[in-house]
Amino acid sequence: TWTPDSFVETTVAELKRKIGNEKVILGLSGGVDSTVAAVLLHKAIGPHLHCIFVNNGLLRKNEYQAVLDQYHGMGLNVKGVDASARFLDNLEGESDPETKRKTIGRVFVEVFDDESHKVDDAQWLAQGTIYPDVIESVSATGGPSATIKSHHNVGGLPDYMKLKVVEPLRMLFKDEVRRVGASLGIDKELLGRHPFPGPGLAIRILGDITREKVAILQEVDAIFINGLKEWGLYDKVWQAGAILLPVNSVGVMGDERTYEKCVALRAVESTDGMTADWVNLPYEFLQKTSNDIINKVRGVNRVVYDISSKPPATIEWE
Ligand code: XMP
Repeated sequence: TWTPDSFVETTVAELKRKIGNEKVILGLSGGVDSTVAAVLLHKAIGPHLHCIFVNNGLLRKNEYQAVLDQYHGMGLNVKGVDASARFLDNLEGESDPETKRKTIGRVFVEVFDDESHKVDDAQWLAQGTIYPDVIESVSATGGPSATIKSHHNVGGLPDYMKLKVVEPLRMLFKDEVRRVGASLGIDKELLGRHPFPGPGLAIRILGDITREKVAILQEVDAIFINGLKEWGLYDKVWQAGAILLPVNSVGVMGDERTYEKCVALRAVESTDGMTADWVNLPYEFLQKTSNDIINKVRGVNRVVYDISSKPPATIEWE
């Protein structure tokens, strides 16, 4: 019978045999899958695993530094690459959702390719692909791994993609990945993290992306997510986040009329993201969160809660 411990034991042995003394490159995202893949490989080949964690400037507030510190604390050989400016410059003036995704995918490949060249004679590319990704691999959703998968044109491949591929989690479902992660001693909080899209906040800022908008949305999102944690609601929700809408609305602050931004909050229950229901969050929580956002985040004067389920709505707004 399958147990996380036996999976770890056989997989580590297999990875050792397969990879030997060769070097492996792995892109960490901060998510569960890439982290569990990295820890498994680290257990098998130690410092021969070279991890790369890219900041695309569209992560949650403080996420880049916090996650990088956490990875270092786990003993992983990880290099943080802050490419925020490169991503944001490339996205300037772009409002179309699919173009945003493609731009982020392209810049990610460029950055990752540059970094992988700095690892001398690497022979392997490791990915945190899990079983549902294998099934869906043709539906390119545009995240880093999806981008990698949707490059069929072998002639035009970035150099790092000419590496041999190793995917230790490709037979596992998400809950099995979490159990394997727990058996490896990975922090519970990390394993319980909500999914977060590869293009990050770019697809939660409707319309064009500016540094100012990213900063506003990071603040709003942090208030919402920290609130869910404080109220013990985080683990009851499959995914949550805030969306910055491309409309201003009239408000009143003291004696002043304001004309400022509106944000939407979204929290869903789901098992695989294919279908989802909006979560009936307590009114008291929504009330407190809305007040906090409007009082603390300059430039926002209205908060709405998304009560649409998937289908027909999607989880993300773009
Ligand atoms: P939708 O909006 O399609 O989202 O209902 C379903 C799940 O997929 C995530 N998502 C993405 N993940 N790159 C990713 O890596 C993307 O371009 C992307 N678009 C959506 C979304 O966050 C949700 O978990």
